[in-house]
Amino acid sequence: MAKDVIIALDFPTREETLRFLDRFPAGEEKPFVKIGMELYYAEGPSVVREIKARGHRIFLDLKLHDIPNTVKRAMAVLSGLDVDMVNLHAAGTSAMMRAALEGLTRPDGTRPLLIAVTQLTSTDAEALKNELLIDTPMAETVLSYARNAAASGLDGVVCSPLEAALVKERCGAGFCTVTPGVRFAGGDAGDQKRVMTPEQAAKNGCDYIVMGRPITKDPDPVEAYRRAVSEFLG
Ligand code: C5P
Repeated sequence: MAKDVIIALDFPTREETLRFLDRFPAGEEKPFVKIGMELYYAEGPSVVREIKARGHRIFLDLKLHDIPNTVKRAMAVLSGLDVDMVNLHAAGTSAMMRAALEGLTRPDGTRPLLIAVTQLTSTDAEALKNELLIDTPMAETVLSYARNAAASGLDGVVCSPLEAALVKERCGAGFCTVTPGVRFAGGDAGDQKRVMTPEQAAKNGCDYIVMGRPITKDPDPVEAYRRAVSEFLG
């Protein structure tokens, strides 16, 4: 399975995003990048097309969650943007996940990778029990959602690097893990609570690591990106 470092382009505007991408020397590597809600809602599909035209692979992180028919139709639109990876909330149920896959599949049979979000890492055990009224412990809930995603034909889940090995054990080695919460040794964890280094993430079975600030806020982001790739891919 492909393994790679994905840079989270958490910038508010097209200009700031392109200024960041322009730091990567022309004709050299084109990092896999993640476009999230902030940039997408600010700039719309045109920024996705523009970044794609520059030769980057794109994870469009919009976390869809709606009735199956709506998600199917929205996924067909996203697939037409020629992105490489998209995601949804597994909480939308297996019916929604299967509909999403149908919508994503292009007439020639190709489609972007489809990844599920299980429980957001911002949801703690107390909110799970008292607000969402889920009595099953967090770890079991996450694994059960991951198994639903695998059974629905999805390609993988977003999870913490600490959960990646367990997800592989329960859902199969071919089920891919996309993991934020990665920091260089001795780096600033910021608001991430449980972190791993790129090297530890690789050892724990992560297929794609998503790194934002350790690369985007570094005075030399190209060097930071290359360090992440070399530590992760070995
Ligand atoms: O800057 P940092 O490396 O923390 O960025 C991580 C990226 O991964 C951000 O875009 C963040 O929204 C995303 N993410 C996360 N934790 C999750 C899901 C997504 O940090 N559970």
